[in-house]
Amino acid sequence: MSDRYQGFVSSPIGRMMVKNLGLPAPTRLERYAAGDPLVAGTVALGGDGRLSASLPTVLEGLGIAWSLPTSGEKYKGLVFDATGITDTRALIALQEFFTPLLRSLETCARIVVLATTPESVSGSERVAQRALEGFTRSLGKEIGRGGTVQLVYVTPGADDAIASTLAFFLSPKSAYVSGQVVRIGAHQEREAEHVADWHRPLEGRIALVTGASRGIGEQIARVLHRDGAKVVGVDVPQAASELQALMRELEGDHVTLDITGKDAPQRIAHHLATEHGGVDIVVHNAGITRDKKLANMDEDRWSSVIGVNLTAPERITRQLLEDKVINDNGRIIGVASIAGIAGNVGQTNYAVSKAGVIGLVDSLADDLGHGITINAVAPGFIITAMTAAVPFATREVGQRLNVMSQGGLPVDVAEAIAWYASPGSTAVNGNVVRVCGQMMLGA
Ligand SMILES: NC(=O)c1ccc[n+]([C@@H]2O[C@H](COP(=O)([O-])OP(=O)(O)OC[C@H]3O[C@@H](n4cnc5c(N)ncnc54)[C@H](O)[C@@H]3O)[C@@H](O)[C@H]2O)c1
Repeated sequence: MSDRYQGFVSSPIGRMMVKNLGLPAPTRLERYAAGDPLVAGTVALGGDGRLSASLPTVLEGLGIAWSLPTSGEKYKGLVFDATGITDTRALIALQEFFTPLLRSLETCARIVVLATTPESVSGSERVAQRALEGFTRSLGKEIGRGGTVQLVYVTPGADDAIASTLAFFLSPKSAYVSGQVVRIGAHQEREAEHVADWHRPLEGRIALVTGASRGIGEQIARVLHRDGAKVVGVDVPQAASELQALMRELEGDHVTLDITGKDAPQRIAHHLATEHGGVDIVVHNAGITRDKKLANMDEDRWSSVIGVNLTAPERITRQLLEDKVINDNGRIIGVASIAGIAGNVGQTNYAVSKAGVIGLVDSLADDLGHGITINAVAPGFIITAMTAAVPFATREVGQRLNVMSQGGLPVDVAEAIAWYASPGSTAVNGNVVRVCGQMMLGA
């Protein structure tokens, strides 16, 4: 399922047509491969705030080279500490730091602005901190050449818990994530667990992945396995042979069942408790679409989509929590969709189910305790069997309507999930991050 347009524009004739006709020219995005350094280049640091003193040590701990900006140097990333900005006049520091550096960025550069969660401060400081969102979202649309820009709000008290988030947003793991706003430590003060090896942060963890036999679920299983986890894949009986083959390859385990089955939550909880002594990471990936405009929607399309995408993840989550099968510092991760944020024609059922996944995150984030977190990803256009079924013209438009001018890959969703899953992400709770190449539509 390749992107044929991207292949065409990198051919000699394609390059000529792009130039002469002003067609979109997607950059080939860099992606992470096991063993690669997190950043292939230097990150320049700027800004002045409460995180500035510790940032060099955090980056060194991740094996990332940093420097203060020097003219003539090329940078793979920029990190700006904006936590010292306490009124709107001080926002000029953004222009002073970034404007001279933007022409010194390498391809697929990463920009991260660190800031203070606006809700944790008041008055002029709150205004100025909130204003940063306009900056990062706009710069994300300007940076080009596969670059990404994120705003990471750090609540005072969670200052020591930013390493896993920097590791994700500064590396090629976040190839298709841009213009996002993340909150760290917004729900409770939490200390991040020490990560001994940033290349295998999930060593010894048990991860449940639903819908694991193909598409995005298969990649989630592969990436969690790469990062050291033992994966327990779940899929329907019709997908049993693919599921078994994949789990054999990944030295994992499998449970074959329909997650909407009446006793599915109990069966999953029982299997995890008896075979694995509990679970550390729960990824609710299984999902279906049954598109029709509401005027033509029948009851079956409505109920089946909400049953698989929302009711099942909610029931399974509640069962695992009730039976105390999720270990301390566990991770619950939902797969929502851009449709659940922006809405989509023909997808009232699907958008309800995916907005509901965000509701599940909101409803549980404050209540979990024991270091357990809940977050979701909201993929945009990801190239899979699901999107291959979309008619050609709609698919072409769908793929180009984002800053990267291309669809994402299943691995892009999987990498975001692996970031949430990391033991270093204990303070990352209650977030919904879009993996959509900063789609032009929706919030
Ligand atoms: N592909 C995209 O562009 C995109 C965009 C946004 C969100 N998503 C979401 O990502 C997730 C994965 O999507 P995908 O594109 O890989 O889809 P896919 O159809 O390729 O894979 C979905 C998997 O879920 C399994 N599944 C479906 N119903 C199930 C059930 N009742 N019980 C157990 N397993 C079940 C399927 O057998 C399949 O293996 C879904 O939740 C989807 O809504 C996908």
